[in-house]
Formats: sequence, structure tokens, C-alpha cells
Amino acid sequence: MIRRMIVLSVLLTATATSAADPEIPSLKRAFEGDFLVGTALNREQILGQEPAVLERVARQFNQVTAENAMKWEKIEPREGEFDWATADALVGFAERQGMQVAGHVLVWHQQTPAWVFEDADGAQASREQLLSRMREHIQAVVGRYKGRVRYWEVVNEALNEDGSLRRTPWLEGIGEDYIEKAFEFAHQADPEAVLYYNDFNLYKPAKRAGAVRLVQGLQEKGVAVGGIGMQAHYGMDHPARLGDFEASIEAFAALGLPVHITEMDISVLPMPGPEAEGADLDVDVEADQRLNPYAGGLPREVEERQASRYAAFFRILLAHRESVARVTFWGVDDGQSWKNNWPVRGRTDYPLLFGRDGQPKDAFYAIVRSSYSK
Ligand code: XIL
Repeated sequence: MIRRMIVLSVLLTATATSAADPEIPSLKRAFEGDFLVGTALNREQILGQEPAVLERVARQFNQVTAENAMKWEKIEPREGEFDWATADALVGFAERQGMQVAGHVLVWHQQTPAWVFEDADGAQASREQLLSRMREHIQAVVGRYKGRVRYWEVVNEALNEDGSLRRTPWLEGIGEDYIEKAFEFAHQADPEAVLYYNDFNLYKPAKRAGAVRLVQGLQEKGVAVGGIGMQAHYGMDHPARLGDFEASIEAFAALGLPVHITEMDISVLPMPGPEAEGADLDVDVEADQRLNPYAGGLPREVEERQASRYAAFFRILLAHRESVARVTFWGVDDGQSWKNNWPVRGRTDYPLLFGRDGQPKDAFYAIVRSSYSK
């Protein structure tokens, strides 16, 4: 442990090294035996247009998720017409590097083409039509990667903040059983895949309780639910109490299910309002310079506070490593992050572990350091 600390302090002063430099510690090594450490990759990265990024990803991570490429609008933009190119490339990259893939996502109300929910006249599709489209989509996508994509996020964001079911076109068109149907179709397509429910703000007690009710209901019906995904799009002030985050891990583990942290990032920018906590893509706040204070660079003090916050989350994750299957960051570097455009467009955010220059930030080293205490 002392030797590792010395190595680390030497590394901390060696700022000129490149991110793919073997001298830089590796996250997947740091958490070996604890949980997988992953990242989302965007289309350009997956298609190899940023080779240095892929090299870094292979050194740092042992799991990948497509940031968009497996979403319905990308993979089946028109009925029965599939565009596999980017998803195939992601799965191929992961196999060559010995990484796990998490499939994101099968059934969601966002980034799903309008035709899915409409009949030939543009009116609301019938329950039967929706179920048959859902089945065919899931069979095609999960079936294509059978045995190659180990984890599938089957249903995303089905809950409101109060824990009730969100009124989505899936719920309205099919009814409450749309969730179990999605799991059944996925299980039929690949019985070995680990299937789970995914949502944001699951640290909030009411939403946590809703997820527990939902998943318990599935378990009672014998549905093959194999885990719960907590997105973890956080800020410097939310969650306000890390104990809420920990209590959710414990509540989900008590259902006998592993927890996947599926989309972690910690925004350093001001939250325009409570609706901007979480990740509801329908939120779009008007731009305002006061909401974009670090356009010229990230102050050291803020970078350090972010690093301590990341480390605090990781101490909790490590304490629950028996229940935590993986931790995935929602992007490799700050420049790529969706947080630059959500909940306000055109800001400069710094939510990830690597900076725009590809160099590891304080948060990266703080997370690595948190692994020394285990
Ligand atoms: C985001 C992507 O990062 C963006 O590139 C895209 O424009 C919108 O979606 N919750 C999810 C993710 O489950 O799929 C979202 O990803 C972020 C919120």
C-alpha cells in the first residue's frame, strides 16, 4: 500500500505523460475482483475515428456501452430496417479487447421513432401491434448479439420521481404489463443474458420504493430480472445525502439483485432547477451565462471538490462491492459528454475522469486512490 502511494505521488507530478501511457494507473486493474469499470462510447469513437481514445479505453476499462448506437432510432430507424454497423463495430472491439458489453437499450420512450407507436393512418397503434413490434425488435437485436452482449438494459426510465409508472406511449398503448413482456421477449432471445431495469434518480427514496415495487412484482411473476441499473447522472449538490445512494444499493441488493451503475457523471455546473436533476431528456432550460461559469477552464478548487465527491461515491461502491456488478461512466472525456448540452444547451461542463486534452483529472486519481483502502 505504501509503495502504491509513492508510485501515485510520482505519477501525480508527471503531468506530461499521455493518457494511453502505461505509467498511468488503470481503473480496471484498480477494481479487479470488485466490479467491472466501463465507459460509454459514441459513434465516432466506436468507428475508430479517434484511435488514441480507443487505446486509452482498452487500457482503462473492461466494459463498454454504446452511448446511442443501440437505441431504437439508430438501430431500427424504419420498421424492419436495421442499421447494425456501429453496434457490430462496438461488439467486435469489445471482443478483441476481452471486454463485456452492456446493451443500451431495448424499450424506452425516448429516442424511439414515432412510427413505433403509430398505425398505418398515424393513429395510436393497437396493443397487439405494439407488442408485436416490441417482440420483433427485441428478437432481432438481442438475437443478433446472443452470447456476445452479456447485459441488456431491457426497460429504461419507466418510473416518475414519485415512484409511480411514467405515462409513456408504451404504458398507454400496451398497459402495465409492457415491462414484463419486454423482459420475456429478451429472455426468449438470449436466455443467458443478464437483463435489468434501468432508471435515473433511483437514490431518491420515493423512486427507490417504486423500483423495488416494480422489480418485486416482476420477481413474483417469475420474470427473469437479473439486476437494477442506476444511471447516476449527478451534480455537486445532488444527491444531497450520499446515504440515500447507499440505501438504494442496499434496498436493491436485498431483492437479491446486483446493482449496475450504468451512466455515471458528476456535473460541476449550476443546476438550473430541480427538474434538471436526473436525466429527463424532455428538460431543456434556456441558456444563460450565469449557468455556464467555467467556459474558460475548470478552477482547481472545483476540480478538487469534484474529485472528493467521486471518491466518496467510490468508497460506498467498494463497501458494497458484493452487490455492485459494474460502474460505467457516461463517456470517456469531458469534451464528449452529453452534459455539455443537457439540461442547458451549449455549456462547458467537466463531468468525467479525463479532460478535453485526454489527460486524467483529479477525479481519476481520487478514484484510483479510493481502491487502496480496500
Ligand atoms: C444521451 C446521450 O449521451 C446523448 O448523446 C443523446 O443525445 C441523448 O441521450 N439517460 C440515458 C442515456 O439512458 O441514453 C442518455 O444518453 C442520457 C440520459
